[in-house]
Amino acid sequence: MHITSTITLNNGVAIPRLGFGVFKSKPGTETENAVAYALITGCRHIDTAQIYRNEKDVGEALRKSEVPRDDFFITTKIWNNNQGYDKTMRTFDESLDVMGLSYIDLLLIHWPLEKLRKETWKALEKLYNEKRCRAIGVSNYTVNHLKEMEDYAEITPAVNQVEFHPFLYQKELLNYCIIKNITLTAYSPLTRGEKLNDETLVSIAGRYNKTPAQILIRWCLQHDLVVLPKSVHRERILENANVFDFEIADADMQILDSLNENFRVAWDPTDVP
Ligand SMILES: NC(=O)c1ccc[n+]([C@@H]2O[C@H](COP(=O)([O-])OP(=O)(O)OC[C@H]3O[C@@H](n4cnc5c(N)ncnc54)[C@H](OP(=O)(O)O)[C@@H]3O)[C@@H](O)[C@H]2O)c1
Repeated sequence: MHITSTITLNNGVAIPRLGFGVFKSKPGTETENAVAYALITGCRHIDTAQIYRNEKDVGEALRKSEVPRDDFFITTKIWNNNQGYDKTMRTFDESLDVMGLSYIDLLLIHWPLEKLRKETWKALEKLYNEKRCRAIGVSNYTVNHLKEMEDYAEITPAVNQVEFHPFLYQKELLNYCIIKNITLTAYSPLTRGEKLNDETLVSIAGRYNKTPAQILIRWCLQHDLVVLPKSVHRERILENANVFDFEIADADMQILDSLNENFRVAWDPTDVP
């Protein structure tokens, strides 16, 4: 496994396993520089969203990098107040425009809005069929939301992007996704820094001469997930990309697997009907 290693989605499209997140990266030079650093480390997968308000800066960084379009993978997400068929179609165009791109690699519904998620999905299917995005998927969907899709979706989502780390080891959701051939993508893999001082994690990191952040990213990779760490600091971006020269032993994976405490740093979609 290396930094551009991919997983093949259920429609044959290859997604790089290591992505780079830009949630809370400030619009302007902060995001532009962060994406530029990520590309320098060799990362080719950037995860943005309409609500992050930095799609423009991501696009700018990609353009300035001169990485050929076919060599990078970009995800964006339809935000809640843009859901619904017509608004999704319109704001997808706006996202493309703002990023200066002619297609998106992966388009997601950001959140399972009860009243609008079905018609929003129809819009994503239309955009996919028109080849304006190479893959479509969802985010923050529980098993129930995914099961419901079996009744109305003509296309199975390629991805479900959810919060996932050892402290929120969502085994049931992961197993369901594996069975349905939906690739699970882990967001907030570093617990936004909240658990980096966990004693068990720190002691495992010491055994490999790695940092707790690197162990958390590697844990996701060894569970065959796509993983999206975020940082705006050059040295941390480098650190977070430097996870391909070691392997966590089975015994340590099991210890990390046992850390689950349903700890969340992001919104919990469990009770969304
Ligand atoms: N679909 C969704 O609803 C959803 C929700 C949340 C996140 N996401 C995606 O997932 C990405 C990652 O999640 P996240 O941003 O919530 O959290 P995260 O990646 O778990 O953590 C980011 C935080 O950790 C810090 N950090 C980064 N690397 C570090 C390191 N090596 N050592 C110590 N601290 C470090 C960052 O600070 P600095 O930036 O100051 O370095 C930032 O405060 C997002 O950017 C976004 O693309 C999606």
